[in-house]
Amino acid sequence: MRVFVTGGAGYIGSTLVRLLLNRGYDVVVLDRFFFGTDSLEGVKENVKMIRGDTRWFDPDVLRGSDAVIDLAALSNDPSGELDPEKTLDINYRGRLRVATLAKKLNVKRYVLASSCSVYGFQDGILSEESPVNPLTTYGKANLLAENEILPLADRAFCPTALRLATVYGLSYRMRFDLAINGMVRSLYMTGTIPVMRDGTQWRPFVHVKDAASAFIKVLESSEDEVVSQVFNVGSDEQNVQILQLAKIVAEACGQEARFEWYGSPDRRSYRVSFSKIRNVLRYRTHFEISREAKEIHEALKSGILNPDDRRWITVDWYKHILEDAELARRVSLNGVIL
Ligand SMILES: NC(=O)c1ccc[n+]([C@@H]2O[C@H](COP(=O)([O-])OP(=O)(O)OC[C@H]3O[C@@H](n4cnc5c(N)ncnc54)[C@H](O)[C@@H]3O)[C@@H](O)[C@H]2O)c1
Repeated sequence: MRVFVTGGAGYIGSTLVRLLLNRGYDVVVLDRFFFGTDSLEGVKENVKMIRGDTRWFDPDVLRGSDAVIDLAALSNDPSGELDPEKTLDINYRGRLRVATLAKKLNVKRYVLASSCSVYGFQDGILSEESPVNPLTTYGKANLLAENEILPLADRAFCPTALRLATVYGLSYRMRFDLAINGMVRSLYMTGTIPVMRDGTQWRPFVHVKDAASAFIKVLESSEDEVVSQVFNVGSDEQNVQILQLAKIVAEACGQEARFEWYGSPDRRSYRVSFSKIRNVLRYRTHFEISREAKEIHEALKSGILNPDDRRWITVDWYKHILEDAELARRVSLNGVIL
């Protein structure tokens, strides 16, 4: 079975590609490689790598695939606000294009990487039936993509949306702009963990390998169970309050931490129910926060991970790419080609 993974060189993608290969799938990766291709070092020779953009790639490259896992996106709120129109182009229209082409070219399965950000902040425990309330361009683009892609379902095309909790853990393209990973980095570098006041806000989390496994779980479930369905991805016990999270991280890393309060009291909170994916797909998570936070800390201490690599803070890296593009444009406008 051939799986076409957009954004396959990213944080989740580079873990997912390895899991797919281990399970015997043929893998095609389509990616702009904004963060480079190092994340697929060691597996590149077993993967068909295509440098391309979801907004304009040649549809022919999709032919012969049995499933698409659509991860390519500007992958968080701050990156999504750099240029909201571009975010809608990539995260909404780009994904709709991928799904529409997949259907046209007889690819049977399509899985969208959506996010719990579609809920916004709400009291209570949110299930897939809860009202949605996206607050950012990133959240809105996810919801628009879900709303237009899931109705494409017919007897020959089976789309599914996964709303991921905030992901954590080591991957091959690292991200320190995610809450747990960022806390570990800050603790390692400065001995402090920034905590937004007053720390009682709830957030849901899921490990990167568990997140990747959820995509495979969907591919390996019957169509009846997943067609046009939305599933939250995570586990009930990994809904955690932010101050509690900071304490878990500090203890796991065995390092004395000062908590650095910032922001005005944040009443925005949400807790998510993961019973649907547990009950319908028999999905379980296997990784837990303290052990995996320690792993990241160890990787920093041993030098495997460079905490100063600008690529690991997603929005900083996209800003840098935009500045470079602007500089190149200005230089060539003046007739000087670099
Ligand atoms: N990491 C999380 O906590 C989280 C949570 C919820 C949802 N998600 C979603 O999961 C997906 C993957 O997230 P990630 O953490 O791996 O992000 P990432 O930024 O590490 O990876 C995204 C990949 O997509 C590529 N890309 C971006 N725009 C592209 C385009 N137009 N065409 C082709 N490739 C493009 C980038 O080069 C990168 O390799 C995203 O859709 C993200 O919104 C992530």
